[in-house]
Amino acid sequence: DGELSLSRSMLNSSDKIIQKSGSSIFQHSVEGWKINSSLVLEIRKNILRFLDAERDVSVVKSSFKPGDVIHYVLDRRRTLNISQDLHSLLPEVSPMKNRRFKTCAVVGNSGILLDSECGKEIDSHDFVIRCNLAPVVEFAADVGTKSDFITMNPSVVQRAFGGFRNESDREKFVHRLSMLNDSVLWIPAFMVKGGEKHVEWVNALILKNKLKVRTAYPSLRLIHAVRGYWLTNKVHIKRPSTGLLMYTLATRFCDEIHLYGFWPFPKDLYGKPVKYHYYDDLKYRYFSNASPHRMPLEFKTLHMLHNQGALKLTTGKCV
Ligand code: CTP
Repeated sequence: DGELSLSRSMLNSSDKIIQKSGSSIFQHSVEGWKINSSLVLEIRKNILRFLDAERDVSVVKSSFKPGDVIHYVLDRRRTLNISQDLHSLLPEVSPMKNRRFKTCAVVGNSGILLDSECGKEIDSHDFVIRCNLAPVVEFAADVGTKSDFITMNPSVVQRAFGGFRNESDREKFVHRLSMLNDSVLWIPAFMVKGGEKHVEWVNALILKNKLKVRTAYPSLRLIHAVRGYWLTNKVHIKRPSTGLLMYTLATRFCDEIHLYGFWPFPKDLYGKPVKYHYYDDLKYRYFSNASPHRMPLEFKTLHMLHNQGALKLTTGKCV
């Protein structure tokens, strides 16, 4: 079954893991951690059987013409029209083409980052990936500011920018994007219906303000391919979280992947409360069946990969 397999009994106990999250079950050491380069190569090779991040990270201009109709990836009965604006923002070639890095940081959004003082360390990596347009400036000491690649679910427009109802919300958004310079802004626009208006507004603001940010829109097959890879490794995930998606993509172009801000538990190892997000008051949703994600199971897997030297998971202080 290969090194990545988790035993059935471990998987079935994932509910218990949530309850036991205050215990030492996830205690792991970053001191003495060493990269296992042959395992890194093997994982990259295995993931390449399912997807090629260079290609699947974004559809390109030549894939569509304006007016084309596509089916949503996770809601096949519903369709989306490729608008003129969307088409004009599709990259000509993959924004990750031929890009290779020695070390990368994938930064999740857990409140575990608060007081971590990980900012400098995160920024010292060659390539920094962040999720859902999380704010950085006010939290720089703990999360850093470097953002080479940042994701944005369409729901972020509603959640963090007031649905663009006021001019000030739009200004705040444009300001946030202008700070990214020519980094990659990755928008999963083809997953489910519901966010199309938001995506259109975002596209219109980028064009109107001539923002330099390099837009990317994940391929229609990406999510199925990522799920397929983890399923064959016995990690049963209905819908991979953004953080797991980013780790999976990063294996293609990073030799050493360091994860920060992954801690989907309401308490730390010492029983101290941990916010779901380091920057807002959103609550833990994965306890309810409404959440599509299985972050604790994902975390268990990442934790195991840390112990094997495939990636480095930091959940404590950096200094
Ligand atoms: N994450 C985590 N622990 C938390 C919060 C987040 O490990 N307490 C990780 C997850 O991998 C998550 C990523 O950080 O995907 C980014 O966080 P967030 O923006 O909350 O992502 P999602 O929940 O995947 O986004 P959404 O709710 O829009 O699907």
